[in-house]
Amino acid sequence: MWKSRWTFIFAATGSAVGLGNIWKFPYITGEYGGGAFVIAYLACILLIGIPVMIAEVMSGRAGRSDPATAMRNLATEAGATPWWGIIGGMGMIAGLMIMMFYSVVAGWALDYVAQSLTGNYHKASAGDIEANFANLLDSRPGQLGWHTVFTLLTAGVVAAGVTKGIGKAVDILMPMLFAFLLLLVGYSAVYGDFAAGLHFMFDTDFSRLNGEAILVAMGHAFFTLSLGMGAIMAYGAYFPGNASIGKTVITIAALDTIIALLAGMAMFPLVFANDLTPGQGPGLMFVTLPIAFSNMSGGLFFGTLFFTLVSIAALSSSISLIEPGVAWLEKRGIKRVVSTLGLAFVAWLGGVASIVDGDVFNALDYITANILLPLGGLFIAIFVGWVLPDKRVLTESGMAGGQLYRMWRVVLRYVAPLGIIAVFLNSLGLLEL
Ligand code: PFF
Ligand code: NA
Repeated sequence: MWKSRWTFIFAATGSAVGLGNIWKFPYITGEYGGGAFVIAYLACILLIGIPVMIAEVMSGRAGRSDPATAMRNLATEAGATPWWGIIGGMGMIAGLMIMMFYSVVAGWALDYVAQSLTGNYHKASAGDIEANFANLLDSRPGQLGWHTVFTLLTAGVVAAGVTKGIGKAVDILMPMLFAFLLLLVGYSAVYGDFAAGLHFMFDTDFSRLNGEAILVAMGHAFFTLSLGMGAIMAYGAYFPGNASIGKTVITIAALDTIIALLAGMAMFPLVFANDLTPGQGPGLMFVTLPIAFSNMSGGLFFGTLFFTLVSIAALSSSISLIEPGVAWLEKRGIKRVVSTLGLAFVAWLGGVASIVDGDVFNALDYITANILLPLGGLFIAIFVGWVLPDKRVLTESGMAGGQLYRMWRVVLRYVAPLGIIAVFLNSLGLLEL
């Protein structure tokens, strides 16, 4: 039981920690104005993300199948309509859609492994380093090549059926990533404008927080914890019989949050020290961190290693984007290799479209994170909060009805669903938060 609990922890952490933390969180924090956005994001993690994550793990453990089948079976047992399975099915599609831009960004990370290795940005000026990223965006063949490499890596791991195996890599990956981010924060504290960076990230000016910013903060809470599409539900099937889900989930969410905050604290001081714009968009990490690596001693080595770690973190997330769909097709008698190649090909095509047309890239990112995942999460909260019988939820959560359990139950039934609905309405201008 101890062992399978760790299998779950590694798989779920591998899925959660990825480009969302290191690439996306800092750049959207920059775009939406800093401190107040960070507070909104943290509130969403606490009040919506963690309770929904517990609900997903619980349904996965209880259903012990791919998300669509698990929800369908649990609903039938509870005397509700089997149509609940659709929510799991919607999640598989959302996963594929995320993969369509995720693998493009992971491809950028691979390109930066090569750039580090060849010393492309060594001792370069901040302006030249900005130009490097612009050049990559202008190069369709370059992006296409790396996107293809990353898609094949993901497909290889999933087809081989060693999704659990990659969990073992997380064991080494996470501590290294953590150490690296600390190193980079240290570098920024000495050579960047640390005070300006911290003020930007943690001064809360709530006047900058409009409906759109709150929606993006909530969407990112789902994205970063891999929620609302069944990825964590699929891994919940590994969760052992009577261990407590609550504490495990809180640990994973805390780790994910700390990694994102460290990434921001590493980048923003460099933004202000080098006269860059915090809201420059998706290039933020690919401009700021090479500035640090280009100047530190051993920077080429560290840069190579860092971007390799980021790529592996992206891989342990991307496998969870297509695994639920593959598991579902496998249940329908389609060979694992065939279904993996099929889904990976669809995702690859979408990636090509994202490379060719930036609007496709942005739309896929926006629709999945800010609409599909919160919608999936809303239904999962209602499903576990209101549809499943109380007794079933109590036993399956493994939380023995204590204080943590009672708090979770209330937040899941009321706070999370009403919160999600309120943020949706607020962003549509139908409600004033
Ligand atoms: N949580 C991942 C990240 O932060 O990079 C992204 C992700 C993976 C989202 C898997 C959704 C998912 F199902
Ligand atoms: Na994450």
